[in-house]
Amino acid sequence: MAYERTLDLNSDAFRGEAYRHYAALRQASPVFLSQAEGQLPMWYVTGAREVEEVLLDNERFARDPSRIDAQFAAMLGGEQSIAFLNDHMLNRDGDSHRRLRRLVNKAFTLKAVNALRPRIEQIAETLLEPVRSSGRMDVVSQYAFPLSITVIAELLGVPAQDRDDFRRWSHMIVQQVGHDLSELQRCYNEFAGYMLALIDQRRAQPGDDLVSALVQVEEEGSRLSQSELCSMIALLIIAGHETSASMIGNAVHMLVQHPKALARLRDEPTLMPGAVEELLRYDSAVERAMVRFVTRDTELAGQRLQRGQLLIAVVGSANRDEALCANPDTLDITRPACPHMSFGKGTHYCLGASLARQELEIALNTLLRCCPGLRLAVDPGAVRWRYVPNFRGPEALPVCWSVD
Ligand code: HEM
Repeated sequence: MAYERTLDLNSDAFRGEAYRHYAALRQASPVFLSQAEGQLPMWYVTGAREVEEVLLDNERFARDPSRIDAQFAAMLGGEQSIAFLNDHMLNRDGDSHRRLRRLVNKAFTLKAVNALRPRIEQIAETLLEPVRSSGRMDVVSQYAFPLSITVIAELLGVPAQDRDDFRRWSHMIVQQVGHDLSELQRCYNEFAGYMLALIDQRRAQPGDDLVSALVQVEEEGSRLSQSELCSMIALLIIAGHETSASMIGNAVHMLVQHPKALARLRDEPTLMPGAVEELLRYDSAVERAMVRFVTRDTELAGQRLQRGQLLIAVVGSANRDEALCANPDTLDITRPACPHMSFGKGTHYCLGASLARQELEIALNTLLRCCPGLRLAVDPGAVRWRYVPNFRGPEALPVCWSVD
């Protein structure tokens, strides 16, 4: 169908009405090849059953491009500074992936994350303290972003006061488009240079933090190379705040547009864990999983895929599929548990899922408690979305509340 072939899934027009487009795509063909002008041909998978099939099958759908073509993989690796940021678990499969993930798993278990609760609550309250009496703020820059970056920075042991640099580097890396190559290269160089200096400093003066523990692993033999170590820290910083910050923004955006749900949550905080799952399902900060490489000629939902082709599983669309839950386009904070795919599936299932859930729960509880009568401070149509291919979240979210 011509509509699907030429649709630019990265355009503003598409993004503004993404869920309506995805519903049409799921209906027409849940697996389709996009050949938009100026972009690489890409298979998009929008149906829940097919998204799950892709994410659970690392044999046919790989994250590691070297399983297709070593030259192509080397090209993606690019300059040394890029290699120093890309040599991480999310770009690996099989044993090589398991080896890297095992090294950090312990820091992100539910038990480890529960121990962080009092500190996360304190960070949330500290951020609201100075703005509370003013009755207004931008949720993204004054609350969601500093909260998420401070939590992951403290967990890793990287200086939280450098958070504006992390934000700049990280935004540019996940955004890619809209920057020229030299600008991107400078950003990669700066970020990699920062990581290498941090690693040297922790080697000289180890602390009680995750970076020091990882440096120790590197020192103990050949278990972690310099590029693996650097990339691991970069991945945890980027994955650990970009998504959580956007998700807090999405959740507040949805709640201020559903005042009954917001009031109910404020009056009955025990509903919060279920509401968090529903908010994650309804408007996930990760709209699309990372690109997969088709490892052999195969078939998916009746479509013939060829070895070497690129494919994206759209988890945000899968979450709105009727095959997943009834009335998927309705936000229902009391909905019985629904197996949403906002944290992915299978071997690359989000390492930080427990941490993300906890941050979102605390961020919303604290905001609702401290800011009575919370509402949007601008016209709903004035909210702009970030231009980041895989993620979804507001650029800014001005809100206001009642002050005595
Ligand atoms: C609401 C917030 C978050 C969402 C929606 C989210 C979503 C996801 C998704 C969908 C994936 C799988 C990507 C794929 O298969 O292509 C993933 C992987 C990952 N996430 Fe998250 N994430 C969130 C927060 C976090 C946090 C706080 C961390 C903390 C470090 C984190 C660390 C990671 C890592 C390291 C991976 C790669 C796992 C692997 O390759 O085995 N994420 N995340």
